[in-house]
Amino acid sequence: MLIKSQGNNLLTIIVCIVVTSYCLEVSSNHDPKPGTCPEKCDCGRHLIYLLENQVYIVNCSGVGYVDIPSGLPSKTDALLLTDNNFHNLSHLGPLPNLQLLDLSHNVIQYIDNHWLFEYLPNLHILRLSNNAVRELKHGSFSGLKNLQCLDLSHNILQHVELHAFGGLNHLARLYLDHNKLTDLDRSWFLSMSLLYEVYLSHNLISRLEANGFDMLSQVVHLDLSNNIIKTINSDTFAGLNNLKVLDLSKNKLTSFPADCFQKLPYSEKLILDSNPITRLKTKDISDLNISVLSLSYMHLLRVTESKAFYNLSKLVSLKLHDNPAFLYVNPTAFYNVPHLEKLYLHNNGLMGISPQIQISLPNIKELHLYQNPLHCDCNIYWIKKQLVSGEIHNKSTIFTDSDKLVCDSPDTNINVPLRQVPLPSLSPLCPPTTLPLFQDHYNLSIGQTLSLECKALGVPSPDLVWLLPNGQLNTSAHDKRIVIKEPTLITLKGVLQSDSGTYACKASNVLGFDISSTAVNVANKDLKIVPIGIFGDYITVAWRGTIPRLNLDDFQLNYHTKTSTDQPQKIHLHKLLHRYTITGLKPMTTYEVCLTYLDQYLVHCQNITTNQKTVIKLGITRITNTHIIVGITTFIGSVLTLILIGYLWKKFYTKKGYIDPEGKTHDHMSPIPLENLFQPQSTPLCSSRTALLPNSQI
Ligand SMILES: *[C@@H]1O[C@H](CO)[C@@H](O)[C@H](O)[C@H]1NC(C)=O
Ligand SMILES: *[C@@H]1O[C@H](CO)[C@@H](O)[C@H](O)[C@H]1NC(C)=O
Ligand SMILES: *[C@@H]1O[C@H](CO)[C@@H](O)[C@H](O)[C@H]1NC(C)=O
Ligand SMILES: *[C@@H]1O[C@H](CO)[C@@H](O)[C@H](O)[C@H]1NC(C)=O
Ligand SMILES: *[C@@H]1O[C@H](CO)[C@@H](O)[C@H](O)[C@H]1NC(C)=O
Ligand SMILES: *[C@@H]1O[C@H](CO)[C@@H](O)[C@H](O)[C@H]1NC(C)=O
Ligand SMILES: *[C@@H]1O[C@H](CO)[C@@H](O)[C@H](O)[C@H]1NC(C)=O
Ligand SMILES: *[C@@H]1O[C@H](CO)[C@@H](O)[C@H](O)[C@H]1NC(C)=O
Repeated sequence: MLIKSQGNNLLTIIVCIVVTSYCLEVSSNHDPKPGTCPEKCDCGRHLIYLLENQVYIVNCSGVGYVDIPSGLPSKTDALLLTDNNFHNLSHLGPLPNLQLLDLSHNVIQYIDNHWLFEYLPNLHILRLSNNAVRELKHGSFSGLKNLQCLDLSHNILQHVELHAFGGLNHLARLYLDHNKLTDLDRSWFLSMSLLYEVYLSHNLISRLEANGFDMLSQVVHLDLSNNIIKTINSDTFAGLNNLKVLDLSKNKLTSFPADCFQKLPYSEKLILDSNPITRLKTKDISDLNISVLSLSYMHLLRVTESKAFYNLSKLVSLKLHDNPAFLYVNPTAFYNVPHLEKLYLHNNGLMGISPQIQISLPNIKELHLYQNPLHCDCNIYWIKKQLVSGEIHNKSTIFTDSDKLVCDSPDTNINVPLRQVPLPSLSPLCPPTTLPLFQDHYNLSIGQTLSLECKALGVPSPDLVWLLPNGQLNTSAHDKRIVIKEPTLITLKGVLQSDSGTYACKASNVLGFDISSTAVNVANKDLKIVPIGIFGDYITVAWRGTIPRLNLDDFQLNYHTKTSTDQPQKIHLHKLLHRYTITGLKPMTTYEVCLTYLDQYLVHCQNITTNQKTVIKLGITRITNTHIIVGITTFIGSVLTLILIGYLWKKFYTKKGYIDPEGKTHDHMSPIPLENLFQPQSTPLCSSRTALLPNSQI
């Protein structure tokens, strides 16, 4: 070690002779006490976390420093400065051996010197976590050619300049989690072609740009969890050719981003937990080269449709647990998933699961079904049968923790462990049980969309129909507004008040039927027409109700005569319009005046009959916009005319005062006293004298 450090000194001296005076300064700083341990610090050779061998550590953690101590031993391999009070990092002496620099848990706000890290050629690990860094400027880390791990987690990073990470050519791990980033920029990663793990969780990222990660062909682990990502572009993950683990849990995805994962050639694990996904649709999860998929802790997930898991030839483990609203797994939800071994379905709301599922999963070894409200009738028969057969032959079944399988219904079996339910008490066939996938009532207002879904369990598989309030079945032929998808999901777009009533789902098989229903109440918009003035050829109406003024934009006012077949006249309401006067009407005629919502839903109508044509009296004048405009124009015109006349008068009068040759005046006016001759400028405008003056001038 001694020889090595002497070698370093020699090198320093040579470099200094050749280059600058700055180095001389630095080496003179270091020369007096090479290798002195700073006050209050702990120095020595130890094994340390993150580095493999015993290294020379200078440990100045938690000693209350406000700046980096000078005169550090140049042989320092690891410098620990956590838990101090650094605000501003602006200088660091040359430490040629330094491999680990830990500056975490300080109050660093700025890394404002681009050359800060220039003299740390061997630095492998830089920890800046738990500080207060808000911004990173271009080249903040330039000089750290050999840095492998950069930890900037738990800061308040908001703004990162495009080339902030420039020069980090050997970086393998980048921690940017627990910051306030809203966007990612492809340029950040330009220099980091060896990046292996990227942690971006707990930020405020809402958007991922297409091809944003295409520089990261070596990345194996990408963590984007705990952000606010709503949608993902199909090219977002293009180029991540070695990705093994992608974590998108705790974001705001409302549906499975089906096409964007197909760009990943092979990924071991895809985590989408805790996203607001409501259903897994047919072929949502198809043709993916993944072995583990997690779709757990999703409190809105209710249904998996047929073939939702389609052609997943590598899938081995599927986690679909802790989804409390998850009531139904379609018997044919799995199609060509030949290697699935572990299926986690515990802690859901499943009342049962079809035996058909086993046919689609030939290699299933573990099925976790405990902590579900099992409905112990024919739907559970196949499970019970396997448990019994397992007991007889003393071998385990696919049902993991089968002791924890407990019946929740029917009444005879509440809270009875399935193991204790005798097999003969269950029948292999039974009438259907409908699943409560809808609420027991819905309060809607006109124009909204009603979506109702019905599922049922039973052996043999039940058929389902919806019974609409008007007694019709689920035919959409009668009503174009009804859309039927996935046999029993009906959607009624733009409900009317007449759609109110009971909607019932009927499930039937050869053994019987089961009906469950919901009450739908469609309320009108609370807005009514009030006539406030009825005359011979015009009427004034206002509107009253609880609709906020700001929402009036969605409403229109129509009117037409009861007899005519003309298109009704249409007026769009808005928040500044409080009343409206309909003009140009015929006397003694009935008009139907209506309010509509979104141009198609009738809200309220009034039949209003105009009066006899009468002479306007009692000072009640009809005021229309035209009248107001004409009135204002006339008024302004009069005022302008008066001002003009005044101006002209003034002008001519003054002119005369100057031009009039004195002698002439004297000739004519000599008898008139001078006092009278002089008229102050405030002479009444229309005095005969003034009016005459211009003429006498001409
Ligand atoms: C450094 O010093 C602090 C405080 O004395 C101590 O808690 C910590 O364990 C030390 N770290 C190492 C790696 O020795
Ligand atoms: C940080 O320190 C450097 C020099 O020590 C100084 O020039 C700079 O203004 C400081 N920055 C802040 C934000 O205090
Ligand atoms: C799927 O992953 C395997 C590696 O396990 C790879 O050999 C294969 O080419 C991948 N298939 C596709 C279609 O990308
Ligand atoms: C299933 O996926 C593989 C690639 O993983 C593809 O080659 C094959 O055509 C797919 N099969 C079907 C039926 O889509
Ligand atoms: C059942 O098999 C297990 C080993 O798989 C063995 O330990 C146990 O004694 C067997 N029980 C009976 C009743 O044969
Ligand atoms: C629907 O309206 C009824 C009264 O009309 C009320 O009792 C009920 O609580 C409302 N339900 C919901 C879910 O708002
Ligand atoms: C109702 O829907 C079911 C499922 O799609 C279908 O089998 C049935 O024929 C439909 N009934 C009518 C009357 O259209
Ligand atoms: C207006 O009159 C017609 C008959 O002419 C009637 O059918 C309609 O219901 C009336 N409307 C209102 C709102 O009273």
